[in-house]
Amino acid sequence: MAQHSSAQDSEFAQAFRHQVLAWYDLHARRLPWRETHDPYRIWLSEIMLQQTRVAAVIAHYEEFLRRFPTLQKLASARESSVLAAWSGLGYYRRARMLHAAAKVIVKERDGTFPNSAKELQHLPGIGRYTSAAIASIAFREPVAVVDGNVERVLQRVSGRNLSQSQLWTCAQAMLDSSRPGDFNQAVMELGATVCTPRNPGCLTCPVVNVCAARGELQITGKAAPQQKRTIHYTLHQQDGKVCLVRRAKDATLMPDMWELPQISPASSQNNGSRTRIPDVRLLFTLRHSITVTDYTVRVWRLPASPDLAGKWFRAERLPQVALTGLTRKILRKAKILPLKTPSESKPV
Ligand code: ADE
Repeated sequence: MAQHSSAQDSEFAQAFRHQVLAWYDLHARRLPWRETHDPYRIWLSEIMLQQTRVAAVIAHYEEFLRRFPTLQKLASARESSVLAAWSGLGYYRRARMLHAAAKVIVKERDGTFPNSAKELQHLPGIGRYTSAAIASIAFREPVAVVDGNVERVLQRVSGRNLSQSQLWTCAQAMLDSSRPGDFNQAVMELGATVCTPRNPGCLTCPVVNVCAARGELQITGKAAPQQKRTIHYTLHQQDGKVCLVRRAKDATLMPDMWELPQISPASSQNNGSRTRIPDVRLLFTLRHSITVTDYTVRVWRLPASPDLAGKWFRAERLPQVALTGLTRKILRKAKILPLKTPSESKPV
């Protein structure tokens, strides 16, 4: 999209939208939230998809809807149940906001879902992107979205380094207003599956003929190296129960959620997998990665201590407890929790 007159611009936009939609009609992944126009379900998918891969979202989406099939059920749930259903997806603030917004809709709007991007933005946790995604997909409002995928597609196709505000204007100018929801999803899908950050699939790209970059890409900067850290937890089990501690209410990450007691490296007195103190044993080690850190997680059995400040949970109750993702992973490895819930074992 070098320097075009407005007539050429609209020709360019027409070609882009026609080609991207034809491609989407043939190649769109069949995803559960694409089988519905229910705003509650679309909203839930959009919140889950922020910062989380599609495969991980699929596994949690249906289970969440099984527990909270309607907005009303979500609004009347306890926060701890909502967090438990969110467990494994991370970024728990999203779940708290979702819950808070459901309460607002039920209490202040008599359960009527806001049906425009503008109104949606008054709800907790819904900003410009999410409001446009819900309004265009559920209510066919002609508003464009810009997320990381759309941004990359537009930068490459236009061959320009567009500012945030130019990106929103450009996306809106390209939008197919007769199919706004499909168009938005098509561009996001193109960015996620073809016009990927590294090694884009220009050979199979439906808009390669109108693309300024056409595979000639400048990769901007390298990904920051992951930090490495080791953390230690102790797993206490007794009479079919497990001891957990609650994270602080004001913790930046995962406030109020339950995890195994963390211990300092010294308390494990590690000299290999056996230790100098009898009864202290390394049960297993696992790896856990979050955004910028790769953790080596060591799980120890320590002798029971009377001043253990935790709460004992029966193993059968654990699926309903708001566990951190790492805790769930550890309890699965220890075979205290089942490996996968039924919905998670479905093929993706
Ligand atoms: N990313 C976030 N929401 C999406 C959607 N509905 N389709 C494709 N990618 C997305």
